[in-house]
Amino acid sequence: MNEFLAGVGVDLHLETDDGEGRRVGLERALRDAVRDGRLAPGTRLPATRRLATELGVSRGTAKAAYDQLVAEGYLTARQGSGTQVASLPSLDADAPEAAARARTPRFDLRPGSPDVGAFPAAAWLRALRRAIATAPLLAYDYGDPRGRIELRTALSGYLGRARGVIAPPERIVITSGYVQGLALLTRVLDGAAIAMEDPGLPFHREVVRRNGGSVVPVRVDERGVCAQELGDLKAVVVTPAHQYPTGVTLHPERRRALTDWARARGGLIVEDDYDGEFRYDRQPVGALQGMAPGQVVYLGTASKTLGPALRLGWMVLPPHLVDAVADAKLHSDHHTESIGQLALAELIDSHAYDRHVRACRLRYRRRRDQLLDRLAGRHDVRGIAAGLHALVEVPDEEVALKRAEAEGLAVGHLADHWHTPGAGRPQGLVVGYGTPRERAYPEALEVLGKVLEGA
Ligand SMILES: Cc1ncc(COP(=O)(O)O)c(C=O)c1O
Repeated sequence: MNEFLAGVGVDLHLETDDGEGRRVGLERALRDAVRDGRLAPGTRLPATRRLATELGVSRGTAKAAYDQLVAEGYLTARQGSGTQVASLPSLDADAPEAAARARTPRFDLRPGSPDVGAFPAAAWLRALRRAIATAPLLAYDYGDPRGRIELRTALSGYLGRARGVIAPPERIVITSGYVQGLALLTRVLDGAAIAMEDPGLPFHREVVRRNGGSVVPVRVDERGVCAQELGDLKAVVVTPAHQYPTGVTLHPERRRALTDWARARGGLIVEDDYDGEFRYDRQPVGALQGMAPGQVVYLGTASKTLGPALRLGWMVLPPHLVDAVADAKLHSDHHTESIGQLALAELIDSHAYDRHVRACRLRYRRRRDQLLDRLAGRHDVRGIAAGLHALVEVPDEEVALKRAEAEGLAVGHLADHWHTPGAGRPQGLVVGYGTPRERAYPEALEVLGKVLEGA
């Protein structure tokens, strides 16, 4: 739904998702308008009564939204002069941010990031306030390298019910995102050869190498990683819920083959569950870890559900690895920042995290459907059952990318993901549908459609 904030001349794009509610939708729309400069600093906003009438919401809803944004610092309210847009120096004059914005392509369908505009700022602020108000004094001191017990306990319950992970709090280590978990494990494995999916994320291969490991490619086919090819390797990193970047869900037969390999050879499975919450065709596929908790290290992250900026991830370890990983964490950075951990624990315990994930799932599903509406029947689109990206097959990747670039459209290149690039590889574009702001998405899809039709 598009609405017009008359008098100020701002198109507010008040979109409310199921489960989100009008007040939260209004807060988000106003916050976005301030952040991206459509509401300039000093702009005087209409009185709550008028805003409520224009938008067809109650006056209480309009007032609550203003109050929230005043509390967050986006608006100021002064007796006599009404509510105005605050001056935000970090948004106005932050040179690196401005440079980053200038580098941003016109249409961004690159994979990797969620819709950061959906970050639940109000709920996070509430959780942070509560966390600070109730934190014991010792929370401000050095703590357990595994992380705060409040968060490990909250995650233990959440991962059990949402992802089928067997996760006693004493076997969880909180990390600075997935990437730190991978780095710590590589160090603990002490130079071992680690199998990684081919294709896979080049950045993660580099993380393994820089932490002393060597990388062995393992093939991925239409059933997922070829577990039968692992032989006597020590460890394998996999993305079973939604293979990155092909989007394949690991077939039940391969899940079994993988756990059989680990049991028979003493191998370790490293499960990267980066977007497992977002499954669209049925209930999320449970984590592999639940089938073999003694053989699997489960790694999860808040990067897709909340935002990469938080740098919050978690590892659930088999008993024999807990002490070694906690020791590696201690010698890396003592432990992850504590107050953010307490806020996330609060978000999970209050069920605001579940509500947010549910609302995001609906939104991404809608985006996935829009992508299919635009491309289906004309192009082969894979990996659509889950996650925030799909793989679109093309006859010639280079040609498609040149056309995309000419249109100001950025997408992922399948070619970048092979361990050894070369002729004869399948050709495809990795299309992320998490990143664009809601109002920019339909146009980005139109451009993608045109690019593919011409390629
Ligand atoms: C395959 C894969 N794994 C994990 C992650 C999450 O990494 P982190 O938690 O370090 O942000 C991502 C993020 O893009 C990813 O693409």
